[in-house]
Amino acid sequence: MKRLQSTLLLLLFVPLIKPAPQTRQDLHIIYDYGTDNFEETILNRDYEDKYLDGKNIKEKESIIPDMQRFQLQKDESATLTPKKENEEMPTCLLCVCLLGSVYCEEVDIDVVPPLPKESAYLYARFNKIKKLTAKDFADIPNLRRLDFTGNLIKDIEDSTFSKLSLLEELSLAENQLLKLPVLPSKLTLFNAKHNKITSEGIKANTFKKLSNLTFLYLDHNALESVPLNLPESLRVIHLQFNNITSITDDTFCKANDTRYIRDHIEEIRLEGNPIILGKYPNSFICLKRLPIGSYI
Ligand SMILES: *[C@@H]1O[C@H](CO)[C@@H](O)[C@H](O)[C@H]1NC(C)=O
Ligand SMILES: *[C@@H]1O[C@H](CO)[C@@H](O)[C@H](O)[C@H]1NC(C)=O
Ligand SMILES: *[C@@H]1O[C@H](CO)[C@@H](O)[C@H](O)[C@H]1NC(C)=O
Repeated sequence: MKRLQSTLLLLLFVPLIKPAPQTRQDLHIIYDYGTDNFEETILNRDYEDKYLDGKNIKEKESIIPDMQRFQLQKDESATLTPKKENEEMPTCLLCVCLLGSVYCEEVDIDVVPPLPKESAYLYARFNKIKKLTAKDFADIPNLRRLDFTGNLIKDIEDSTFSKLSLLEELSLAENQLLKLPVLPSKLTLFNAKHNKITSEGIKANTFKKLSNLTFLYLDHNALESVPLNLPESLRVIHLQFNNITSITDDTFCKANDTRYIRDHIEEIRLEGNPIILGKYPNSFICLKRLPIGSYI
């Protein structure tokens, strides 16, 4: 009931809110009449403002009205027909589009919806998406973060992410993947835990050129070996609960260079694999901390 009331209130107030100029105060007024989860949204906002260097002043003006329409649409008693411009971007009726972020969580979509051209963040967790294609992101060059956690993704066209030159964080966790597509070079975080990825499904150079990759989560898959050419930049590598049976002195270190130290690494997790780490005493000499796993 409370939600309905506040939506109705919003209905009354929407015509009173001038579309421009949008000040920060206006934003807060909208939030006050919004539903609970917008509080969460506003928390994210500050972070994103910093992240985006305040570049998107223009977006702020164009996306806020979209959010108002989203509210109207959600209330089924609203009889207002969407204006023409909405027909071009129905995604922002189904999802919340806000300041370059598109929040599309738990809305039962089975394909990636058409995104506003300026989107930088897409949160599409807990849907029923089965497939990702290069076309899905072809005209969205500013994407920095994509989160598809908890979908049914089995197929990803190899070039889906390769042109996303700004993409820094990609989560494909809790899907049905058997293999990995080409990853873009600016990634700092890649999360594909809880899939069905095999070692065959990861090419030898998949991670090689990702010179800023810091967090790599591949736990709870079907890997039989540690992926090759893991970049120096990695701080955290999660490989627990796979089917890894052995490693070599070159897996993390350099067999021919005993003075080499893998400086950045803070955590390697290998528990829940058949491997007995104690059998490979020379495989960890470059690490400052031993991997987590069984040694006997
Ligand atoms: C890694 O980050 C640095 C600093 O942010 C940047 O200059 C560089 O281009 C990045 N490398 C890649 C491969 O994107
Ligand atoms: C683990 O690997 C072995 C072969 O090394 C294979 O027989 C077995 O089926 C694999 N287990 C799982 C759960 O993938
Ligand atoms: C160690 O081996 C790598 C490749 O196997 C090679 O590029 C490098 O030059 C070698 N370093 C030394 C010190 O022999």
